Amino acid sequence: MKTIIEPFKIKSVEPIFITTVEERVQIIKDAFYNPFLIPAEKVLIDLLTDSGTSAMSSSQWAGMMIGDESYAGSPSFFRFENTVKDLTNMPFIIPTHQGRAAEKILFSVLGAKGKMVVSNTLFDTTRANVEASGAIGVDLLCPEGKLPNVPSDFKGNLDIEAFKSLIDKNGADNIAICILTVTNNSGGGQPVSMQNIIDVKNICKLNGISFFLDACRFAENCYFIKLREKKYADSSVEQIAKEMFSYADGCTMSAKKDAFANMGGFLALHNEDLSNKCKNLLILTEGFTTYGGLSGRDLEAIAIGLKEVLQEDYLKYRINSIEYLTNKLIKENIPVMQPAGGHAVYLDAKQFLSHIPIEQFPGQVLVTALFIEGGIRAVEIGSLMFGKYDSMNQLIPAQMELVRLAIPRRVYTQSHIDYVAEVIIEVYKKRDALKGLVITSEQPVLRHFTAKLAPVS
Ligand code: F0G
Repeated sequence: MKTIIEPFKIKSVEPIFITTVEERVQIIKDAFYNPFLIPAEKVLIDLLTDSGTSAMSSSQWAGMMIGDESYAGSPSFFRFENTVKDLTNMPFIIPTHQGRAAEKILFSVLGAKGKMVVSNTLFDTTRANVEASGAIGVDLLCPEGKLPNVPSDFKGNLDIEAFKSLIDKNGADNIAICILTVTNNSGGGQPVSMQNIIDVKNICKLNGISFFLDACRFAENCYFIKLREKKYADSSVEQIAKEMFSYADGCTMSAKKDAFANMGGFLALHNEDLSNKCKNLLILTEGFTTYGGLSGRDLEAIAIGLKEVLQEDYLKYRINSIEYLTNKLIKENIPVMQPAGGHAVYLDAKQFLSHIPIEQFPGQVLVTALFIEGGIRAVEIGSLMFGKYDSMNQLIPAQMELVRLAIPRRVYTQSHIDYVAEVIIEVYKKRDALKGLVITSEQPVLRHFTAKLAPVS
């Protein structure tokens, strides 16, 4: 069968609001050409993020009704803890209100000040927490991961040779921890192979470096391993996931992604001493150890979601649907990150709008055009998000100018996906008429969230 069907049916629906082009021109102007400033009700298809935006299943909603809100020792916590223990085989499970809270706690107690934290690519909140602790984040993505238009199976892999020479040059004592992001969100949602995970683990073990996973999208990564790494073709995704976690000393997790929860996260660890330190900080900032900033009903939703995400019919549909959208764009010669990632489509705005100089933010221009054309909200991952200024106040551009269209889990149907493709293709046809943007107001850090922009005159 060619048609991709959703392996679920719809029990409860939410309206989305249809607007006209004229209305959207005004809406984006009122939002200062920044999608973060658009009220969500004015968005037709919201692809700003796949985080916390999942549709929960009827089982998850039923689980919420049996959520127990006891301050200490809630049965919901034990159901959550058992599920995470079963998946990761790690004995110490610490709930947090979302992924970045797990990161904050881990890096605060790790004592990595002045040392390096190595990754394939640190996600921005992870990097911010690493840097806030006084440690230095070092991204060692494999060379193919940096080429948007060149397809390769595991573009999220860490560059093993670069890791070895970093250790030779700086000494293992100066590297506190290595954390692999699976899939690699900031690098196009590309997967990491099991072989790479094993190789990284072995180097870490040999050198006494802790090895962690940023496991937000672990199931999507494991499905790619099943599809692309021969040895795993006959393994279940659950077996693959368990093997993957078996190599790690610990993991951070945002349950807002592959656990289909609207809120939540956790830290899972093997080391009791580290766990005790983390729990102390947890109590200070998040809550008691059996709820950690979450309600009992959230813990139930996460426990159920972590099992549902391993269902292979779901993962097949999820990965196929994103690949389908990517391939439709490739067929029209639209520059897009290849191959398709696990949770999003990434347009290469530098090529898409090659007539717009980087100083005029081609990625943001494309985001604006997608909204005006079809009410689609995407996000720029380029020089608005990551650009810095030199001493002469000139822009130091980001490595790539991408636009991410992240697909919320189980929320939109294949006809929504077809519509998204049509809108992108239409914008591509009209691209020569698009003009640049300039910043009129910005904050010194994380400016993309609040920056105001205007069309160049
Ligand atoms: N790690 C990765 C790889 C992520 O993608 C995110 C969040 C986090 C950590 C932090 O988790 O939001 O629960 O605190 N990514 C979202 C996104 C925000 O849109 O990609 P959080």
